[in-house]
Amino acid sequence: MQNLSLAKKIEKYIAQGKEFTLQELYTEFGEDYKKHSIRARVYESNKVIRTGRGSYILAGIDIEAVIEEVDTKEHIFRLVDAKLKYDMIFLDIPYSLAGQRGGNRALVDYETISEDEFKSIIIEVEKLLKNEDSQVFFMIAGGKTSIKGAKRYINMFSHTGLKLVNQGSYTKLTKDGKVCNMGAYKLPKELIFSYSKSGKERFSEMTGMSMDYSYQRPPLPRAGGYRTQKPLILLQSLIKRATLAGEAILDLFAGSGVTLDAGLSLGRKVHGLEISSDAIINHVLPRLQRYTRNEPKGLLATTQTSLYDFM
Ligand SMILES: C[S@@+](CC[C@H](N)C(=O)[O-])C[C@H]1O[C@@H](n2cnc3c(N)ncnc32)[C@H](O)[C@@H]1O
Repeated sequence: MQNLSLAKKIEKYIAQGKEFTLQELYTEFGEDYKKHSIRARVYESNKVIRTGRGSYILAGIDIEAVIEEVDTKEHIFRLVDAKLKYDMIFLDIPYSLAGQRGGNRALVDYETISEDEFKSIIIEVEKLLKNEDSQVFFMIAGGKTSIKGAKRYINMFSHTGLKLVNQGSYTKLTKDGKVCNMGAYKLPKELIFSYSKSGKERFSEMTGMSMDYSYQRPPLPRAGGYRTQKPLILLQSLIKRATLAGEAILDLFAGSGVTLDAGLSLGRKVHGLEISSDAIINHVLPRLQRYTRNEPKGLLATTQTSLYDFM
């Protein structure tokens, strides 16, 4: 064991499959490592699922997912009518901001959501949250040219009862760990905001843990990626901040399906909405196929609300 990294040692220790507590890990590894290093490795591990305060298990995959090809602006009202509730809602919106179109190059070639449409969506989002502490994560570009427009979207939260609980950023890195650039300029960070009705992070020990993440950027479209894809590990990090195994996550603009993938990899139930059939057929479904053993059971591309029963 001596030559293994702390992360590997922890994984080996918990591979016995039983529930464990942080306290046990401190006792097991505390002589060689500081508590905060142990805690950080546990939170980073994709194999560890939190089942309750201070309790963790190794990830098992028992999946359930619904993917719907719909217009979120309209469909969100059906989710509210069906009285669905979620432990976490992710909003990576197709917004329309200055700085997204460079000269004649249309960088955004899909439909966008206006500020007013966004306002009507987040008013419904609030109704879909399970508890006072259930969190919404909202991402938006933070570049100098787009920040004014971004603020107008962010300000729309003041029309809801949602309160800011934390904020951070996502910095896109190259394979070599350098900040990605566009010509001479570094790509701006994307901003991440989290809200809940109570104004608190659900897991209080996460409060104060930075929400600033730097991760390798996913492949670009010419390499088979999706144009606005976020890194899987970013979504896994956010999901672990706010949910427990078995809980339900809604992604209102699923894109490549990376949020759904991250949720399933951590044993959460996932529900994604996406208007583009190209995104669903060529990205979401192939990406999630690996969670299905034979027939795609529990993995549905549908518009029938009866299928929400498992939520
Ligand atoms: C910023 S991307 C989401 C990217 C995603 N988070 C990922 O990491 O792959 C926004 C997505 O919203 C979709 N979209 C645009 N208008 C929509 C609408 N009215 N309803 C549902 N989806 C929509 C676009 O097709 C696009 O895939």
